[in-house]
Amino acid sequence: MISLIDIQKHFEDQEVLHHISATFEEGKTNLIIGRSGSGKTVLLRCIIGLLTPDNGQVLYDGRDIHRLSKHDGTLLRQEMGMLFQGAALFDSMNVLENVMFPLDMFSSKTHRERLARARFCLDRVGLTDAENKMPSELSGGMQKRVAIARAIALEPRYLFCDEPNSGLDPISSRIIDRLISDITHEYGITTIVNTHDMASVRGIGEQVLFIHDGYAEWTGSNATLYTSENPHLREFLESDQ
Ligand SMILES: Nc1ncnc2c1ncn2[C@@H]1O[C@H](COP(=O)(O)OP(=O)(O)O)[C@@H](O)[C@H]1O
Ligand SMILES: [Mg+2]
Repeated sequence: MISLIDIQKHFEDQEVLHHISATFEEGKTNLIIGRSGSGKTVLLRCIIGLLTPDNGQVLYDGRDIHRLSKHDGTLLRQEMGMLFQGAALFDSMNVLENVMFPLDMFSSKTHRERLARARFCLDRVGLTDAENKMPSELSGGMQKRVAIARAIALEPRYLFCDEPNSGLDPISSRIIDRLISDITHEYGITTIVNTHDMASVRGIGEQVLFIHDGYAEWTGSNATLYTSENPHLREFLESDQ
């Protein structure tokens, strides 16, 4: 579980996150939703430690990422998998080498074991036959699947995805959503996904945090989303129709 306690963040004289508290549960796809500019990316960057909040705590099963020793911070980072906008693969490496990269960097396993793990992850995302291809030879959806394989290579406890479907067609988007959700359940990962894609919300939004102008305004499951009386959330939902 990841808990946020009273997170605040400002840039110069603009406060972009206002006293955000929330919990993200283990083995669930936890979504952060809200329109563009609402603060989803800044919040995710505070959660993963790329930005330091001005106030508040980000607890990973009790460990505050912003107050760990260097050693404990390094250990925690190895428990985190990330999937960002764009696939961000290494263009000069083939598919297998891309998935091997985190294993070669951080795993103490033998080469043979690392290779087996990379192939297992590629198989899990349905790309067994693509291991020798270069990223430029793949569609956007396939590149995203390679990025997922790479993100789960080190068996993360925590998975973070910022707008994983941006730039993808609806069919590829649903495949990526399904993979993220299935992997989360299979391995009991605490997953946080930023999205403004309502199809994703309806499809995989087990736990939803709605942010509006940097305020956490509503939380619940996608099953209760449409019963909310929060005017900003209703406006957000209606804009999708
Ligand atoms: N590095 C930055 N410096 C100044 N303002 C920023 C910075 N990053 C984001 N912002 C501002 O913070 C707000 C939230 O942005 P962001 O988190 O990217 O929104 P979202 O991901 O929901 O579209 C926006 O008003 C944006 O302009
Ligand atoms: Mg964003």
